[in-house]
Amino acid sequence: MNSHNLPFLISVNPEGFQSFPNMHHVQRHLSDLQDYFYDKSAVSSMLMKSDPLIYEYWEMEYAGTGNGLSFGMTCIQPGRIGNEYFLTKGHFHADGVGDEMHMILEGKGLVLLSDREGNSMCMEMLPAKICYYPGHLAHRTINTGIKPLVFVGIWQPNIVHDYETIKRSGFPKVVLASRSGPELINNPRFSLMN
Ligand SMILES: [Fe+2]
Repeated sequence: MNSHNLPFLISVNPEGFQSFPNMHHVQRHLSDLQDYFYDKSAVSSMLMKSDPLIYEYWEMEYAGTGNGLSFGMTCIQPGRIGNEYFLTKGHFHADGVGDEMHMILEGKGLVLLSDREGNSMCMEMLPAKICYYPGHLAHRTINTGIKPLVFVGIWQPNIVHDYETIKRSGFPKVVLASRSGPELINNPRFSLMN
């Protein structure tokens, strides 16, 4: 059974997703993401002042037994914790199955990808681009711009999201602000993902 009636039409912006019936809405504040930022002292000092919203998403998981699709929208706020740009937790798809694609609507950023051996790559996210990920690559999205980064995601249903591996190991790379713009460096806190 579907949790939404088919067919449907939805406005492709946060307001459209917010007002759509049965849409699951999640907000992640800094206090939810303490384990995911690189600079722990910057996290602590920010939390003593405030607990900013880092990102939010709206999603509709396909709950049927047919060939449906799951989809959602993510909006990452602009900002930094220390020198590290606001980011999503990032996750693997358990068992490495189930591809996913993101279509960028507004803002600019980067997506970090990594396999479980720690081989990583990075792609630029810009409006009107689609980033497509095979199911075995972990993905984390980073807002490197000065406006919200907004994108639509579509993925195969029944994916089990593995957040724990990234929480434990980190990504092999971190993206820091530098005078010349975003800089990709090796993450000294990274540990093997298996
Ligand atoms: Fe995913």
